[in-house]
Amino acid sequence: MSPGFKVPLHIVLLPMVILQGQGRYIEKNEIIEDTLGLLNSELKRELSEGYVYSRSLKCIDMLSVDGRFTFSANRPELHCATFFIGSPDEIISLEYNNVNIDCQGGDFLKVFDGWILKGEKFPSAIDHPLPTSERYIDFCDNNNIRTIIRSSQNVAMLFFRIHMPGNGFSLTIKKLINPFPCNVISQTPDGRFTMVIPHQKRNCSFSIIYPTEIMISELTLGHFNDLQLPIKSCGGATDFVQLLGGNRLDPSRMYPVADICYSFSGPAQIKIGCDNTVVRIVSSGKYINRLTFEYRQLGQHELDKQNENGVEDFCYAAD
Ligand SMILES: *[C@@H]1O[C@H](CO)[C@@H](O)[C@H](O)[C@H]1NC(C)=O
Repeated sequence: MSPGFKVPLHIVLLPMVILQGQGRYIEKNEIIEDTLGLLNSELKRELSEGYVYSRSLKCIDMLSVDGRFTFSANRPELHCATFFIGSPDEIISLEYNNVNIDCQGGDFLKVFDGWILKGEKFPSAIDHPLPTSERYIDFCDNNNIRTIIRSSQNVAMLFFRIHMPGNGFSLTIKKLINPFPCNVISQTPDGRFTMVIPHQKRNCSFSIIYPTEIMISELTLGHFNDLQLPIKSCGGATDFVQLLGGNRLDPSRMYPVADICYSFSGPAQIKIGCDNTVVRIVSSGKYINRLTFEYRQLGQHELDKQNENGVEDFCYAAD
């Protein structure tokens, strides 16, 4: 779905919900009919072929929608970045339509497979399938306009530098379905997610960039299926779940708040008042591991309470 539809849909649906509540009291419900009329015309426009959302990019920008995006420098723009994010079960596909930059003159246009903030990466170097140097794709190295670049997870970034006013580029962003999402940054402060790692030797991090309460409703770690004994320490476990907290982006530099290494069903919850919370599964590849959890942003009063008790000092812990 493109945003031309998505954004108005929220705006349209919200009053509909409110109106439907009151509907009983309104005899001739013309307002609702009007709203539906609007929805239908939006839908029709969406269905008509060739409709592509497009807009221009700012030097620092964030995109969560499909479409065609154009950047044109008004003056030398030396430190620009676009953040891309999709739903947890999507990856980002990026294709250049048009590039007019001066690679020899020091311009560049680089895609990064993940996000980088203040030198910290997501996914962390240890969780990403590629070595860090291969996570950058520099247009000036390849000079191949037709290449389609795909991210490994629901986030990606574009860095660019353009000296000459009038130069720029345009690109098409599409989101594709990822059947087994591994590393994810949540687009929303609240939600529910099931992570499945099917016989793969890999570690997956789900990052929520808000202070959060995590509620685990189900965890299956293959090896303890028959053995329902909770074990006291996770030492020696090959497959387990880690809850991490911290005020930084890189999960490998965050503070381990709890490890869970036995299967269970039923709620278990924990509040983590840091800027970033990560749920990480460590997986040996011998089993099918499956974790379902909900998350909810902590309110200000909950954060104040956590801070009063001094329990969240670890948020500021250095490596
Ligand atoms: C997964 O993480 C564990 C512990 O953090 C580590 O020992 C292991 O090597 C990692 N596995 C992979 C495939 O990166």
